[in-house]
Amino acid sequence: MAAGQQQLSVASFFFFFFSGVLTFPLGPENKSGHVCGYESCHVTKHNMLNVHLVPHTHDDVGWLKTVDQYYYGDRNDIQHAGVQYILDSVVDQLLKNPDRRFIYVETAFFFRWWKQQSSGVQQTVTQLVNQGRLEFVNGGWCMSDEATTHYSAVIDQMTLGLRFLNETFGSCGRPRVAWHIDPFGHAREHASMFAQMGYDGFFFGRLDYQDRVRRMLAKEQELLWRASDSLTPPAADLFTGILPNGYNPPEGFCWDQSCDDPPIRDDPDLEDYNVDEVVRRFLDTANDQATVYKTNHIIMTMGSDFQYENANLWYKNLDKLIHHVNARQGNGSKVHLLYSTPSCYLQELHRANLTWALKTDDFFPYADSAHDFWTGFFTSRPALKRYERVSNSNLQTCNQLEVLGGPASRKGPYGEGESQTMKEAMAVAQHHDAVSGTEKQHVANDYARRLATGWQHCQVVVSNTLAALSRSSAERIYCDNLNISVCPLTASSKQFSVSVYNPLARPVTWPVRLPVNGESYSVSDAKGKAVDCQVVPVSRATREVRKNRGHAVNELVFQVQAPPLGYTTYSVSLLQNGPPPAPPGPALQQPSRTSICCVRVLQFLRVTFDPDTGLLSSLSNLETNQSIKLTQNFYWYNASDGNNSESNQMSGAYIFRPNSSTPFIISRMAKTETVQTSVVQEVRQWFSPWASQVVRLYTDSRALELEWTVGPVPIDDSLGKEVITRLDTSIKTSGLFYTDSNGREVLQRRKDFRPTWNLKQSEPIAGNYYPINSRAFIKDDVDQLTVVTDRSQGGGSIQNGSLEIMLHRRLLYDDVRGVGEPLNETSNIFPQGLVVRGRLLLSLERPPAAADTHRPLAQEVVLQPMLTFTDGALSPDTRLEFSGLQAALPPAVHLLTLTQWDSDSVLLRLEHQFQIWESEVNSRPVTVNLQKLFSTLEVVGVSELNLSANQWKDEMKRYDWTPQTDKKPPLLKTFEDPSTWEVTLRPMEIRTFLLRVHLR
Ligand SMILES: *[C@@H]1O[C@H](CO)[C@@H](O)[C@H](O)[C@H]1NC(C)=O
Ligand SMILES: [Zn+2]
Repeated sequence: MAAGQQQLSVASFFFFFFSGVLTFPLGPENKSGHVCGYESCHVTKHNMLNVHLVPHTHDDVGWLKTVDQYYYGDRNDIQHAGVQYILDSVVDQLLKNPDRRFIYVETAFFFRWWKQQSSGVQQTVTQLVNQGRLEFVNGGWCMSDEATTHYSAVIDQMTLGLRFLNETFGSCGRPRVAWHIDPFGHAREHASMFAQMGYDGFFFGRLDYQDRVRRMLAKEQELLWRASDSLTPPAADLFTGILPNGYNPPEGFCWDQSCDDPPIRDDPDLEDYNVDEVVRRFLDTANDQATVYKTNHIIMTMGSDFQYENANLWYKNLDKLIHHVNARQGNGSKVHLLYSTPSCYLQELHRANLTWALKTDDFFPYADSAHDFWTGFFTSRPALKRYERVSNSNLQTCNQLEVLGGPASRKGPYGEGESQTMKEAMAVAQHHDAVSGTEKQHVANDYARRLATGWQHCQVVVSNTLAALSRSSAERIYCDNLNISVCPLTASSKQFSVSVYNPLARPVTWPVRLPVNGESYSVSDAKGKAVDCQVVPVSRATREVRKNRGHAVNELVFQVQAPPLGYTTYSVSLLQNGPPPAPPGPALQQPSRTSICCVRVLQFLRVTFDPDTGLLSSLSNLETNQSIKLTQNFYWYNASDGNNSESNQMSGAYIFRPNSSTPFIISRMAKTETVQTSVVQEVRQWFSPWASQVVRLYTDSRALELEWTVGPVPIDDSLGKEVITRLDTSIKTSGLFYTDSNGREVLQRRKDFRPTWNLKQSEPIAGNYYPINSRAFIKDDVDQLTVVTDRSQGGGSIQNGSLEIMLHRRLLYDDVRGVGEPLNETSNIFPQGLVVRGRLLLSLERPPAAADTHRPLAQEVVLQPMLTFTDGALSPDTRLEFSGLQAALPPAVHLLTLTQWDSDSVLLRLEHQFQIWESEVNSRPVTVNLQKLFSTLEVVGVSELNLSANQWKDEMKRYDWTPQTDKKPPLLKTFEDPSTWEVTLRPMEIRTFLLRVHLR
């Protein structure tokens, strides 16, 4: 315990007058004059087993109900849950006894509630926070999913929640502990981020059942997670604790209104007095639990989903439990109960001064039993997963342009715009039942609607800033459906211009494809130079998925090159009209030697197709002079319906369980059609009415694009289907493949193997699936094939040389993990089942240099160009090109965040985007000068923050933990920043700065 005076607590008198224990310890006051955090923890007893009772509620930011339905307690017919009542009730109950504690986690809800409180209640709550009686843990806007999120959006949502807590409560509102009690498996990159956000420790509930058993026996449920192979320890070291019952109370001790366990009946005059029985049961439970943990402290999570709506029930019984169990100490009992919080428990583990098992891999995949692998949600709701990823790109552009435009961005010719709505919508979408795809359909629709509204608000910002920078207030039009060739303006206009904003800090070349109806066009760049452009017919697959939402018959294709953090403008004019009625497009042909030929491009890549099947047959990199055999096709696993001798588990939103390890092939051959122009070459493959693909190679590209279109997945045979594409290559993988963690560091995966325990594999396919957030690769000594994805997906390498990625799922049964609906997505436009389209980008490189290609490639998919259109000719004084940077950043450096913080400061995050072992050229420290960064912003002051921007870097102090087996990290040369303005980034480092700026 903290050395310091003890003080009497008046209110605790009522509960402890029997035993005469009247102590309520207060530590020394902290800087702010408050006693919160570690100093406010209750005393423990060093010679006893201390049981930390942690009252908590788990409030999903949307799942079976929308976030607002949960907040208000609406639609209790779906699920009884109302967060406003929980917070009301908990505050009342905390006031009744100062010994009581409560933790709160999800700032999305707390923020809603706080806004609605009177200043009196706000003051009361502030006092509870300042006394450590109400403590925030985790504190992000939501508790993010770990398998399907991208680090950029996770950092943003944590920043949003933690900023509110800091601004509302100051340092007593800063969570010390990260708390991911529900996510379905745990990503190493999340642990790395939490460490860099300054958390002292991390607790979670779910891990593989075999891993759990081994850890219980070895007392390794508490460990030190070294979450980066590039950052110098302890920068990414995170103490990690696995909770004993997920996040539920021990069996028999749930006293919420939603539970049926017997209350403590403590009147000896009444017949059903049960105190002795309850105390005995509790002591048994506590002593059992203590056998699988290392110290004389154990933690019990006293709460669960949406509990504490009537907090009196819980607290009344917990008060009694604590009193009666501790009273036994007089008779020699060695068990001591206390109200506690995760940080108070963590403090005791830290004081124990032990060494802890070191872990360097991650906690995927998660299985709760032999045939129950939670690997389906890696792909569930692929359309929502893509929309979330696109929305992140749009938000980053919006944030950047809000900074570059200054006040003109928020109020301008287009009206009032702001990024806040989009920030909140994206933050909510990171929740572990949002982008994960494990929510009910109406909730998925609500997340998408929020993103759409956020984007509307952001569009005003984007338009305002572009108007200010270009000095043109001509109406700007957005075409959000270019992926299905819909854009009424380009389809009908004879003359228009397109502005391309590049949110990356280096110049980038992208292809654009615009729906048009003319036969030929001229395109000129910002300097008036003609650009090679070609017209290709809209494919049959695109017309089918587009339905009647657009009628363009052609696509105009050209490459655009945009300056770093800036825009450039292309002018397009119609030269020749097309024939008036829409032509049917070239007929698809059976594959034959004449219809398929090798698609050739001189510079970088060559692909060949099998003339008999129309499938890909090889991929070559002409620059590096390497070539692999590559076939690719589409298959589906028959989703288990539960009727199976081994287990009755079905495939569902969470769980992937194929009925057989051999997937069905959709078609052995593809009908094909070839388009060859000087800008792009395409082989369009048609496999079935619900599966098609375009294999596309742009001139100068280092990546081959596979644009897949899958759906409506047929279910008239009453079989649920999990659709994959599989790449089979000549690469000798020896059972290994590689996946990224939340879009950042790459982890090695080995078939039927886990690095930290002896795996008994019971699901040969589902048990070998891992999350892919932005890339996966297979390699041998000479060849590395990398696949960059445009959203999070699940995938595996089941056979040597092979890589499969799950694209879409349509299922007929619920998998009994709570969502209560089969994953069977339809919509108004697709009543027969959702059609989903996406892209995979393939690159073939020599292994040592592959990251030099796939790192920038993946960033180009994550942060895509923002196109805006204006009809007619531009006025002559329009500024056609602009860059917000003085110069492009070095290739190793990614500008992760640029966003307005308050009126005269902006938040900047710079990231070194290479792992330490990845690249000869790029895995080196780089120095950037902050004062010479921006072209229109003068930087007049700089302060460095932690990753989540809620603590100054120089005030960041974390607990030290000692690993059991320290592989001594190689002694790295330390790199000092050359000056305040020049900052050095080491591999995988993200540095966060608050810059005071003036618009020049
Ligand atoms: C935290 O909030 C306080 C006001 O409550 C503010 O003065 C301080 O600068 C904030 N800290 C950071 C790191 O932003
Ligand atoms: Zn949850």
